[in-house]
Amino acid sequence: MSSFDISSVKGDLNRGQVSWEAPSNIALVKYWGKKGLQLPMNSSLSLSLSSSKTKTTLSWKKKPEGEGLSFDLLFEGKKKVQFQKKISTFLKRIEEKIPSLKDYHLQFDSENTFPHSVGIASSASSMASLALCLGSFAAYSGVETFLGDAFYEQVSSMARLGSGSACRSIYGGWASWGPYQLDEREKGSDFYATPFTKIDPLFEEMSDFILIVDSSPKKVSSTEGHALMEGHPFAEGRILQAENNMNKLVDSILKGKWDIFQRVVENEALSLHSLMMSSNNPYILMHPRSLAVIEKIKEMRAKTGVNCCFTLDAGPNIHLLCPRSENAKVKRFIESDLRDLLENERWIEDSVGALGPKPLEC
Ligand code: DP6
Repeated sequence: MSSFDISSVKGDLNRGQVSWEAPSNIALVKYWGKKGLQLPMNSSLSLSLSSSKTKTTLSWKKKPEGEGLSFDLLFEGKKKVQFQKKISTFLKRIEEKIPSLKDYHLQFDSENTFPHSVGIASSASSMASLALCLGSFAAYSGVETFLGDAFYEQVSSMARLGSGSACRSIYGGWASWGPYQLDEREKGSDFYATPFTKIDPLFEEMSDFILIVDSSPKKVSSTEGHALMEGHPFAEGRILQAENNMNKLVDSILKGKWDIFQRVVENEALSLHSLMMSSNNPYILMHPRSLAVIEKIKEMRAKTGVNCCFTLDAGPNIHLLCPRSENAKVKRFIESDLRDLLENERWIEDSVGALGPKPLEC
């Protein structure tokens, strides 16, 4: 990917601004479990979305020497105390990558393009947009590692330190993170994600219908869930399963094999939830209606042969994926068979966003 264009920065090093929007992503092979400092236990592969995004503006102001880094975080114009700790930890983790940050007061203004409280995770798009702004500040202030073609790799590595899944939201389309090697040239890394571009036309234009089953706040956060993989009785098996699923999934995407794609995607979704259920502190994040939706999808598919499959994040909502050519049929099915199972009869129609993040006018 090409480097970042510094001309989108407004102001100067004393007082300036930069804005980015970054997409949310849905993992098909799931990152579940960590080691070291936000490194994944296994490889993962995701799709970046085109409509579900976070926009962030970073404003910086130079401070008198020795005062140390300070920041404010505004979400949709209001201070968000509950994100304060997460951002503070994130900034401490990245300070050594951008040493001059300690001389600044930073303000982050963020907003999501998707509706409030529908239970869609926004940490990936939020942290990715924050990291893109900070990476731009670093490039603008001349930090060498952020200059030139390494920009996106460096930003992905930084986003990872805010939220693991955010490192994949630095790219449009498909991205992989972790040791899995996409081909002889592109060796996978635990530190940053890599775009995956060798896609069969069948998978180039995909739709993602996000079916809102339950929007209540999660009882167990993803971060707590990852921690339960430490000493999990199936941890070793999970690592093997994920690498094996990466092989099968990448092969199906390269060759346009829908049946294999569908089987692996659904195996991953249900495995993620079964790892939660079989952890030492077991919990269930699916809702009875999530199961009812899954059953209906399977029934419809068996009857009609429509190419579609489901996946879930660490929550009760269902992502129903299909090639764009099946859109009309899937939409009719949601309206006739699934609508009543959804909270406030609500779903969001999204699709794979090939373009990925972009800098915005401040
Ligand atoms: C189930 O990236 O939200 O969505 O690194 O602790 O911030 P932290 O966790 P997070 O975990 C995402 C888990 C997942 C699977 C995935 O996106 O790969």
